[in-house]
Amino acid sequence: MTQPIVSIQHISKHFGGTRALHEVSFDVLPGELHAICGENGAGKSTLMKILSGVITSYDGILLVDGAEVHFTGTKDAESEGISIIHQELNLVEQLSVAANIFLGRELSQVFFFRDDRSMEHQAALLLRSLDCDIPPNRLAGSLRVGDQQLIEIAKALSLNSRILVMDEPTSALTEAEVERLYRVIAKLRSQGTTILYISHKMDEVFHLSDRITVLRDGQFIATRNTKETTASEITKLMVGRDIESLDLGPRNPRGDLVLEVRNLSLAWPGHARGYRLKDISLELYRGEVLGIAGLMGAGRTELLECLFGASTLEPTGEILLDGELIRPRHPAQAKKAGLALVTEDRKRLGIFNTMNVGRNISMCSLEEAVFGPMLSHSQEQQLSYSMVSKLKIKTAGLTPPIGSLSGGNQQKCIVGRWLLTNPKVLLLDDPTRGVDVGAKAELYRVIRGLCSEGLGVIVTSSELPELLTLSDRIMVLSEGRKTAEFRIEEATQEKIMEAATKSWNS
Ligand SMILES: Nc1ncnc2c1ncn2[C@@H]1O[C@H](COP(=O)(O)OP(=O)(O)OP(=O)(O)O)[C@@H](O)[C@H]1O
Ligand SMILES: [Mg+2]
Repeated sequence: MTQPIVSIQHISKHFGGTRALHEVSFDVLPGELHAICGENGAGKSTLMKILSGVITSYDGILLVDGAEVHFTGTKDAESEGISIIHQELNLVEQLSVAANIFLGRELSQVFFFRDDRSMEHQAALLLRSLDCDIPPNRLAGSLRVGDQQLIEIAKALSLNSRILVMDEPTSALTEAEVERLYRVIAKLRSQGTTILYISHKMDEVFHLSDRITVLRDGQFIATRNTKETTASEITKLMVGRDIESLDLGPRNPRGDLVLEVRNLSLAWPGHARGYRLKDISLELYRGEVLGIAGLMGAGRTELLECLFGASTLEPTGEILLDGELIRPRHPAQAKKAGLALVTEDRKRLGIFNTMNVGRNISMCSLEEAVFGPMLSHSQEQQLSYSMVSKLKIKTAGLTPPIGSLSGGNQQKCIVGRWLLTNPKVLLLDDPTRGVDVGAKAELYRVIRGLCSEGLGVIVTSSELPELLTLSDRIMVLSEGRKTAEFRIEEATQEKIMEAATKSWNS
């Protein structure tokens, strides 16, 4: 029998009173792609952080190549050839792309990397191997999440690891970029790299993996050969029960026009194209979900930001909410007018890491109190708690800092925060990024429910099936322009992809 490359034996980890892992044991074989599945908060990231030296205090035994190791830091793990691509991106925003890729290693290789030029050259080579044309001298902070995710991947690749941990590497990538990552993974595998892969996307897990391990509530549940199992068996193991089929019931009848956008354009100074958005017009009715599809860079996020007064430059064109012209130049104005935006980049724009869960949820509703009686502490708690239970957020009450929740549960807090503001129009930028299957279904239901109360929703997603499930209409953007709009009955993945890849240069 082959000796496991990694053997996890009886590993337990507590964070204060929270049991993140309990007596987890399983083996990873050399050269395999081993997927780790489980609901939000199941303990996946915690286990991978132990394996890669990010978390150093735990109980249990870790063997690499049959020998016991206990890493004292990531450097230690890296010297064993283990590195990790984090779920929550870990880039230093003030540094260039190249500097981020080689962060912490400039010194050890002084002669090779000292000047920025050769570092940038190396970085450019790595990025090219990912089919990515981000200039290595760009500041990491100026990049969108998807691009940042690619930088994280490049960084891990630069370490030439023999064991690579990927914690939801595709959560912010669009389908085309996912394909690109798959090619990189295939290449790594042909070189013999062992990969541990966390993902909430079943199709991805089944496409890539040799074996799948399921964790639930911090415990090992099962390891299966991918060929001998099914997505429904894995989901069942994850949640511990049969998952009801995702039937959202009949769509809501369309109400009155609530939002109208006419010829919205956003300039892009210094770029050959000259604009980020060009002549976008759209209508949104009460009770309706409008999906926005497009590849990365198509302008989906920019469009939502313009509507929410969050774009750096002022867009041209008209935005009418309930028939009235609005010109939000600041999110506070947009919010007051009745708009709410859940951003794609929760770490940068959404989460107040040091604040507790309750405050993170209630913070946008507190301002409302300025116009009425102040919210009492217990009212505030009640509001936050209603979202914790409505969205089934896994947290030990309202007091832990939000940073201690698992990725998916942080996302649910942000959605909850905006739901509490009772908006007329809810803008959701990739809202289920990193949210597990069960919780996704829950969120879809919540969104539909809100629509039936008259809310209008605009949603973007990097997953087309999600848009197809949720939307009543789908609008497609390509290179900053609207290239198609479909009623849901006529929308297919093929038609959407075709419109999303339409180029204006040709
Ligand atoms: N630094 C921390 N402090 C306190 N609790 C933590 C910390 N990190 C994780 N936890 C808790 O440990 C449990 C497991 O979290 P973990 O991040 O491993 O989940 P996960 O399986 O990766 O979930 P997701 O799919 O949402 O990313 C959760 O209950 C989480 O709140
Ligand atoms: Mg995680």
